[in-house]
Amino acid sequence: MHQTPPTNQRTSASSSRSPRHAAVVGLQWGDEGKGKIVDLLTSRYDCIVRYNGGANAGHTVQVGRERYALHLIPSGILSQGKINIVGNGVVVDPEKLLDEIDGLRKRGVEVAENLRVSDRAHVVMPYHKEQDAALEELLEKRSGKSGAGQIGTTRRGIGPAYSDKVRRSTALRMGDLLDHALLLRKLETICGLRMAELEALGANVTPLVPRELADRFAAAGERLRPHITDTVYLVHDEMRAGRSVLFEGANACLLDIDHGTFPYVTSSNCSTLGIPAGSGVPGRMIDKVYGIMKAYSTRVGGGPFVTELLDATGDRIRTRGREFGTTTGRPRRCGWLDLVAVKYSVMVCGADAIACTLLDVLSGFDELKVCVGYRRADGTVTDRFIPDAERMQGFTPVYETLAGWGRELTDCTDRDELPPEAQRYLAFVESFVGIPVELVSVGPERNQTFERAGGLASAI
Ligand code: GDP
Ligand code: IMO
Ligand code: MG
Repeated sequence: MHQTPPTNQRTSASSSRSPRHAAVVGLQWGDEGKGKIVDLLTSRYDCIVRYNGGANAGHTVQVGRERYALHLIPSGILSQGKINIVGNGVVVDPEKLLDEIDGLRKRGVEVAENLRVSDRAHVVMPYHKEQDAALEELLEKRSGKSGAGQIGTTRRGIGPAYSDKVRRSTALRMGDLLDHALLLRKLETICGLRMAELEALGANVTPLVPRELADRFAAAGERLRPHITDTVYLVHDEMRAGRSVLFEGANACLLDIDHGTFPYVTSSNCSTLGIPAGSGVPGRMIDKVYGIMKAYSTRVGGGPFVTELLDATGDRIRTRGREFGTTTGRPRRCGWLDLVAVKYSVMVCGADAIACTLLDVLSGFDELKVCVGYRRADGTVTDRFIPDAERMQGFTPVYETLAGWGRELTDCTDRDELPPEAQRYLAFVESFVGIPVELVSVGPERNQTFERAGGLASAI
């Protein structure tokens, strides 16, 4: 289907309208539709760079009737002639990456020189996934009632892999997979220690055999060899040659290890603050940040969620929005739009504009609520987000009630075609958060999106 021209034949995609380098980042707890927006914006950029997370991400792109779920590979892979970079800040499960590559190729998507993986990205090994699951199960047992103490991770080994990165002595990087002797030497040290740790967690452990693991992952490394490179020089070379870069955030700002609802977060800096460290590109080189916000709130896994709806309204949002995880299939927790949280994420990420997704899901409600403050247990109210689960306990939402609309929005092609109540909903977001809603998405498909000034829709 897609034929990717050799790198040296590419021309710059950036037009005078586009910011040179931009980022797409989730402003809530993930699944805001980042994949869809990245796919849409890809036509304007030359390189798409993932800088954080791993196979915990699930980015859906719908192209006509074809639906793709991308976990490790940037969403730009579905467009021709782009370089897709998995940066050093990503934790890569090599076998999952190979499955993803094979799955795309089977569907006619070219994955060749257009995919580059950092030699310094850390490796997610099978024992990381066992450790992730074992810790979650242990927390569940200890907490006494099901799920209460768990983070609710995706069990993709993300936390343990990042822990090893920080610990250094037990870490493996993608470049290590290209040297069997080095990999074996490292695994001999790692495996003994790892067995002791897994046993201490009470895990039902399969013995780790360094040589088996070395053979298995060196084989994966051989298959990935054409893609593995120093992506920091690559992205800077591309930028110097006048090419434009779009950074694709995985997970979302409120799951950021430093700025999210700790400890119910993931283990990377998924806000835009992770871009410099996770790609090697200084933050000042990014000209524009698109914050992706779904028109309501969802969250998967544990943690504070002030506007959560545990009633028929929440069920209705879940059903209309098909809110089931792309990665794990878990039902997502649903609730009204929390603008206190969104405004905080806009601040932390330096977002310049909002892309509001899934607005169509809100059709048919008589009225809609948006959260504009939090009431603490002692009755006082704050308009500040507090990224700490303990300190958010007992918070209840202060709502503003807005009029709903009855009409389905999926055929709208311009902001002016939206019912006046939907336009007022977006205007309320803009005035509360202080930045414009530049993109509006009313369905999963590429063409179910319009730009405030009408520019993007015509560029698709
Ligand atoms: P991501 O992780 O941020 O890329 O988001 P996910 O792919 O996990 O979840 C977003 C879901 O919403 C996917 O199933 C998309 O196909 C779908 N989607 C995206 N934008 C819209 C929209 O505007 N309306 C509707 N109804 N679905 C959308
Ligand atoms: P995308 O990129 C939604 C959540 C998990 C869990 C917590 C920690 O598709 O938006 P982890 O496995 O990372 O240790 O889990 O973070 N989480 C996500 N939730 N979308 C995501 O990614 C997520 N990535 C992690 O559900 O609560
Ligand atoms: Mg997702």
